[in-house]
Amino acid sequence: MNKVFTYSVIAIISSLILGIGLTYLVISGKEKNQAAETAIQPASEEAEKHPYSPPSMEDLPEGEEGEVIKLGYKYVTETATSLDGYSGNNLSCASCHAGGGYEAPLDLVGISKTYPQYNPRAGREVTLEERINGCFRRSMNGKPLPEESQEMKAMVAFYEYISQNVPDGTTERPWAKLERSKADIDNVDIEAGREIYNKACISCHGENGDDGSLALWGANSYNIGAGMARLRTAAGFIQAYMPKMEAGGYSQGSLTDEEAMNLAAYINSHDRPDFPDKIYDWPKGDAPDDAAYETLAGNKEKNKEKK
Ligand code: HEC
Ligand code: HEC
Repeated sequence: MNKVFTYSVIAIISSLILGIGLTYLVISGKEKNQAAETAIQPASEEAEKHPYSPPSMEDLPEGEEGEVIKLGYKYVTETATSLDGYSGNNLSCASCHAGGGYEAPLDLVGISKTYPQYNPRAGREVTLEERINGCFRRSMNGKPLPEESQEMKAMVAFYEYISQNVPDGTTERPWAKLERSKADIDNVDIEAGREIYNKACISCHGENGDDGSLALWGANSYNIGAGMARLRTAAGFIQAYMPKMEAGGYSQGSLTDEEAMNLAAYINSHDRPDFPDKIYDWPKGDAPDDAAYETLAGNKEKNKEKK
């Protein structure tokens, strides 16, 4: 065969291969860039919502300090099993405070800066330890942790860690504000709530509403004194965050005021553990209209209306 011909064939083939190779490199490079852009986008949206991104559990300080934070993280994400003696149900702090407080719903980033704080339900200023114990006694249907215990110290160390980028002196956490529902609570439709529950909630929360760490009612859920047992709090939470993933034709943020309220009413129509100290709540007489029980001090404004 003619040598010149052979060389030109080889030259053509190699330039083809080179060309294809180069094109591939350019295209895949572009794809990678696009992938990188889409990956960055949610993070920056997240950063806008969250002005003080918390440090991750991967960046813990070395040694003892990091170990204590890690323990605190375990207590808030595996509460039922790791703090068995104190917690009285199957929930974890993370059942309501996602990631133990890292993210919505009920993000707790900054919490170590905004306490001590006045608490209307207690009628006085409470420390962070007391507020955590509020959730232990009510949301976890359990017992308060001694303030000096290593368990409480570890949990506080975890909250201090995720709050470290929030400036000292911060008094409000607008990024974590839960909008309580303003829907009508006097004309709720429990049956309508049940229908939506069976479509949009049952897959994660169970047929009997008592699935493990996501129990919504029954002996293994929060007690009557918990914030989540209040209709406006539960409906606000549900409307903003549930269903967590698309289910039964509903997606996060798609429920109307009324649907979320009917769901809250359906959930509350079931039995849950009692909280005997509940009568002492809101001692200044400012019990909200959706408090799930009567208190000794009642509601002064409402009492005035009655007279
Ligand atoms: C059943 C749901 C639920 C569980 C479980 C739960 N919490 Fe809460 N927690 C709430 C609700 C609701 C609030 C009140 C939010 C509001 O009113 O804005 C709250 C408030 C708090 C606050 C105060 C937030 C603030 O902005 O002042 C802290 C701190 C807290 N919880 C810690 C914990 C810890 C620690 C645990 C686990 C031991 C826990 N919670 C378990 C529902 C829950
Ligand atoms: C895809 C699964 C999924 C679906 C569907 C879902 N949830 Fe949830 N729900 C969760 C998870 C997970 C949490 C724990 C908090 C978190 O990680 O966001 C939670 C927490 C809750 C809580 C507070 C914690 C508790 O267990 O008491 C309530 C109340 C709640 N969901 C109500 C609902 C309602 C009402 C619906 C239907 C409209 C619903 N959820 C649908 C996954 C789901």
